[in-house]
Amino acid sequence: MRLDKYLANMHIGSRSEVKELIRKGLVSVNGNTVRDPGFSLSGSENVTAKGQAVEYREHFYYMLNKPAGVVTATEDKRDQTVLDLFPEEIRRGLIPAGRLDKDTVGLLLITDDGDLVHRLLSPAHHVDKRYLLHTDIAMDKTDIEAFRAGLTLQDGTELKEALLEISEADPCKAVITIREGKYHQIKRMLASRGKQVIYLKRLSIGPLALDPQLKEGEYRELTEAEISSLLN
Ligand code: URA
Repeated sequence: MRLDKYLANMHIGSRSEVKELIRKGLVSVNGNTVRDPGFSLSGSENVTAKGQAVEYREHFYYMLNKPAGVVTATEDKRDQTVLDLFPEEIRRGLIPAGRLDKDTVGLLLITDDGDLVHRLLSPAHHVDKRYLLHTDIAMDKTDIEAFRAGLTLQDGTELKEALLEISEADPCKAVITIREGKYHQIKRMLASRGKQVIYLKRLSIGPLALDPQLKEGEYRELTEAEISSLLN
C-alpha cells in the first residue's frame, strides 16, 4: 500500500495532510525519512509520523459526548449529524452504535467495527445502558416497582425489567438502567407513569462509561482497556 494511503487509513490526517507531512520529512519507514508519498509498503515496516509509531489498526473506536440538537445518523438532509462532528478524514466507514434522540446527550460509541455494533445492539446480549434523567414531576417508589416488574407501554410493547434509582436530594432526578433500546424507550416509560422526561443523558453502555473530561460535542478514541472490555 502507498505510504500516504496507509497514514490516511490510520487516521493520521487527510490524504493531502499526510502528503504534506511526508514532504516535510516528518515520516519515517524503518528509521529512514521517506519524502515520497507514493512509497510502497509491504506491511511489515515500522512507520512513524512526527516521531510517533503508526501501528496498523483494523478498527477504530471513538466515544462521543453527543450534544443536543444533533441527530444520530450518518447523513441527514436537514440536521447536523453525529458524524459531522468528526473531521472528514476520520469519518469514512464510521457508524454510531445505537441511537440517541436529537435532544438526548451523552455517551455514543462510534466505530467501523460492524460486528461489535451488532453485538451491542442485539437484544440477546443484554447490554445494560445507564442514563441520567430529569422529570417534570417527582418520581417515587411506585415508579421503581413498576419498572422492576417490567412495563407494558400504551401500544402494548412489553419491556424487560429496568432499574430506577431516584436521587434522595431531588426526586425529579434519577439514574435508570435499561437493557433494551426501543424507540424513545425511556421517554415512553416515564410517559406511561404520567411524567415527562425533560433531560436525558447516557452515562454508560455495558462496561464503557462516558469520560467526564469530554465536553458535549467532544470525542476521543477508546483506550485499549476500554476496547477489550467491550470485545470480551
Ligand atoms: N430513551 C429515550 O427515550 N431516548 C433516548 O435517546 C434514549 C433512550
